Amino acid sequence: MPARTKVVAAGAIILLGPPGAGKGTQAKHLGAKYGVPHISTGDVLRNHIERGTELGLQASGLMRRGLLVPDELLYDMLAERMTHPDCASCVILDGFPRSIAQAEWLDRFLSMRAASDFSSAPIEPVAILINVKQEEILHRLAGRRSCPTCGQVYNLSYRPERTKGLCDFDRTELAVRPDDSEDVIHQRLKVYEKNTLPLAEYYRAKGQLMEIDGNRPVGRVMAETTRAIRRIFA
Ligand code: AP5
Repeated sequence: MPARTKVVAAGAIILLGPPGAGKGTQAKHLGAKYGVPHISTGDVLRNHIERGTELGLQASGLMRRGLLVPDELLYDMLAERMTHPDCASCVILDGFPRSIAQAEWLDRFLSMRAASDFSSAPIEPVAILINVKQEEILHRLAGRRSCPTCGQVYNLSYRPERTKGLCDFDRTELAVRPDDSEDVIHQRLKVYEKNTLPLAEYYRAKGQLMEIDGNRPVGRVMAETTRAIRRIFA
């Protein structure tokens, strides 16, 4: 973590928003800016699929269909990651929680962690909801390309690669995510509205929600996100 930055007001920063809202894009920027680890449950699951682990095998079919992976497959993996020393003060969560049950699990985890000797981190999480219109989501996801080697994310319209089809950093051929087909995107949006959107009310009721207009260019969304979370860092 950069020397000037100290976490004073949140045990976790949760990025909420529909598929393609820019959660991953913003989480990477924020993580680098504040020196806070970024955990993307989607990336972790894709990594398990690539390595052919038992977890990957169980998650793969569900992810291809745009459905949620069962909670019990995620909790141990997250608890293990979040007890690493780099997560002791704060962590940026991208793609978790995705349901009220997951949010309650996170609340319990942060409280238990604070009660143990492991950490003196604040207990409460804060959630940032990135709102994006559906037509913009469809446009962004149709144009998303990613590098299977380094994970860099591109966009045909907004952030094109320098040489067509190749990663700027390692020249690997760029790939389209299997769940970025139009029918699966619609399924993911339905799951988001049913399971994840209620989290906005969950965090709003506790005074832990901030909302961002995510329809604007990456840099402007970043500036607003940074303004929103400035109070978390001293
Ligand atoms: P996950 O990988 O988390 O997918 P998602 O939530 O659908 O979100 P995306 O990764 O598609 O979008 P994003 O908001 O990160 O946008 P990005 O920054 O890439 O999860 C995948 C699957 O894993 C789930 O469907 C589920 O099966 C499973 N899973 C994961 N977590 C789970 C959990 N907790 N419980 C159960 N199952 C779980 O940006 C998108 C594109 O837009 C990019 O091309 C980017 O360059 C571009 N872009 C970003 N911001 C802007 C901007 N402001 N202007 C223009 N372009 C932009």
